[in-house]
Amino acid sequence: MHLTGGPDEIPLLGGDVTDGVVRVGDTVRRPVTSRSPFIHTVLRHLEHAGFDGAPRFLGLDAKGREILDFVDGEVAGRPWPSWVADHDRGISVARLLRRLDDAMQPFGVPDAAEPGARPAGSPEPVGPPDTFVSHCDVTPENTVFRDQVAYAFIDFDLARPTSRAVTVANLLLWWAGWHHPNDRNPVFDDVDVAVRGRALADAYGLDRADREWVPRVSVSIAERSWYSMKDRAERLGGGWQRMWDEGVGDAIRRREEWLRDSQVGLHEALMM
Ligand SMILES: Nc1ncnc2c1ncn2[C@@H]1O[C@H](COP(=O)(O)OP(=O)(O)O)[C@@H](O)[C@H]1O
Ligand SMILES: [Mg+2]
Repeated sequence: MHLTGGPDEIPLLGGDVTDGVVRVGDTVRRPVTSRSPFIHTVLRHLEHAGFDGAPRFLGLDAKGREILDFVDGEVAGRPWPSWVADHDRGISVARLLRRLDDAMQPFGVPDAAEPGARPAGSPEPVGPPDTFVSHCDVTPENTVFRDQVAYAFIDFDLARPTSRAVTVANLLLWWAGWHHPNDRNPVFDDVDVAVRGRALADAYGLDRADREWVPRVSVSIAERSWYSMKDRAERLGGGWQRMWDEGVGDAIRRREEWLRDSQVGLHEALMM
């Protein structure tokens, strides 16, 4: 093993925020944060539960970085390939997320799971109580496909306590294009995002009581996400600061506005 970023370390680009993610043989090395010990217990739980849709945590290397399995397969880069909007791909992501959430259910909500104090000004979340820990950042860049089927999620850095409604809201944000039309990725240009949301909620198997909440918690997530992104930019800098400087905060505000304006239609599509 090289300790200085030698020729056997292949940089893995494509994520937004973590500088210094590299591949070494069949492993990935990532810098750790104060939340890493908790994330490692999540990955260990998944491994013991027999869930294979997440990288295994293999320990820390001599540079103090976390060692994870490299999960072979296809991951969307930038710009997103058009397949991100494929119906069957989206359905497979929803099913993988359901399996992940079911595997996490017995883990519960340990104290260590809390991501920390709410940033000043950030409103109280709305929706059902948190009952399990989920990934909460199921972007195309964090999803590995094999044979066009979602196989694994990687990058559990934002894993935290959540509810079924919130985990599905995160799914729809990334895989049903629930962004403001001006900011929505062009791969979703020909997609009816309300209908797609319904299909993914069905594939997840979200029950009616939780489904009822999805449009409202989506607004709440956007509202709070403006504060948490700003807070991360200020506290952590790096990629978070870059995203903030590029206007992610304004896009989040536009998303909130679109979600508020679209509540009735989105709700109708989900509940029909
Ligand atoms: N365990 C892994 N297996 C396969 N590819 C990975 C793995 N970890 C990271 N990658 C690749 O590296 C990219 C960036 O890594 P990621 O951990 O998501 O960083 P970031 O926190 O910046 O999003 C991913 O989008 C993926 O393409
Ligand atoms: Mg990532």
